[in-house]
Amino acid sequence: MAKEKTQYTCTDCGGITAKWLGKCPSCNAWNTLIETAVDSSGPTKNRYAGMAALAPPSEVAILSDIEAQDVARTPTGQEELDRVLGGGMVEGGVVLIGGDPGIGKSTLILQAMDGLQRSGMSTLYVTGEESASQVALRSRRLGLDHSQVQVVAETQLEKILATVDKLQPAVVVMDSIQTVYSDQLTSAPGSVAQVRECASHLTRMAKSTGTAVVLVGHVTKEGALAGPRVLEHMVDTVLYFEGDTHSTYRLVRAIKNRFGAVNEIGVFAMTEKGLKGVSNPSAIFLSQHTEPVPGSCVLVTLEGTRPMLVEIQALVDSGGPSPRRLSVGLDRDRLAMLLAVLHRHAGVACMDQDVFVNAVGGVRISEPAADLAVLLSIQSSLRGKPLPQGFIAFGEVGLAGEVRPAPRGQERLKEAAKLGFTVAVIPKANAPKKPIPGMTVHAVERVDDAIGLVRELG
Ligand code: TYD
Ligand code: MG
Repeated sequence: MAKEKTQYTCTDCGGITAKWLGKCPSCNAWNTLIETAVDSSGPTKNRYAGMAALAPPSEVAILSDIEAQDVARTPTGQEELDRVLGGGMVEGGVVLIGGDPGIGKSTLILQAMDGLQRSGMSTLYVTGEESASQVALRSRRLGLDHSQVQVVAETQLEKILATVDKLQPAVVVMDSIQTVYSDQLTSAPGSVAQVRECASHLTRMAKSTGTAVVLVGHVTKEGALAGPRVLEHMVDTVLYFEGDTHSTYRLVRAIKNRFGAVNEIGVFAMTEKGLKGVSNPSAIFLSQHTEPVPGSCVLVTLEGTRPMLVEIQALVDSGGPSPRRLSVGLDRDRLAMLLAVLHRHAGVACMDQDVFVNAVGGVRISEPAADLAVLLSIQSSLRGKPLPQGFIAFGEVGLAGEVRPAPRGQERLKEAAKLGFTVAVIPKANAPKKPIPGMTVHAVERVDDAIGLVRELG
């Protein structure tokens, strides 16, 4: 006979445990497990029996019969933003835009809202961080004279929803989601529960009314949006600001987009009058050395759809008993792997050395095609010898010491040649069939070939 049993179900993720726990083992949420009954009736002949009583069935259609509608997009007028959005704001779409404080989220969104308003959409900017007059001050500074964007300083969710209901705008901005709170919850604004609750209400409002919603979110020190990435799965599009608050350039990267390509990036320059799109960003992440310096190698990276040249800098210096490996803008685990490959397959040892690697300009490089440039910059620093003038590299490095091809090698080479680079070390599989004017291309198969080649070059 089946014994009657209880189990515990997570209210967040639906995970099931046999005994009560403070923390859900599936989604790590606290205090979400509630006691539920186990169906002990055992298997019946018809597993669906009894289900029909719960609710009337929904209407089902055959996939090929469903009319595919292209989503309606409205360009914001900020070309680089439209690029990452996949063409513009989508009706009923929810965009989360995250970034460090002070990086330019409010600035960009205000500019975009003004653009949308000028193209005939009604917009509502809900500010929870600044007063309406501070927002007005910023709009004057941005040169958005006579802006018709509607502004309200409000943080209570219920009032915000009522305001949206009354004004029925086409686009609503919530700046920032961490400042909103719902009366229904007792926890403080900015807490995971509040952020999640408010965002889900705003998302539901977007879906049911067709209003586009932009949620602005601060990234915490750990690099996640507070509450820990809880919003990413709820929204349609997730954009993150990258770059150094101290430098002029800002990158906006799409890491999720239900309406466009992911990993597309938009490049902006912060000016006196707000963020200006940089339509040709290929050369902005290069430092202007008059002479080649040791430890520097230019990488041609493909971010989104455009090739960009980024200087990779390495400094190898004698370390203490436990040498450090640090990277800025590049993956640290990957750096450790590359150092092992460099030792094992090219005989270049940095065991007792501190190794620092940096991608210039605060840009974050995620593609493995950066490997070869990282290795060559480390070797150059170790030798104290610069790479030749006008040198570029790209290519992924494998654990067996092989150099693997990078996507769209021709385009990368052409972009580098256009900017006056003359020597390239690239993977054999990327070797161009026709010579590229002004560029000497060395195609290599293995890491030791690349290292040997650079030694020969200077
Ligand atoms: P802001 O959009 O307020 O950042 P966030 O909303 O992400 O916290 O922008 C902050 C910085 O941008 C601030 O330090 C000043 C600078 N800034 C300019 O350089 N030019 C401008 O036109 C504006 C409006 C801001
Ligand atoms: Mg702000």
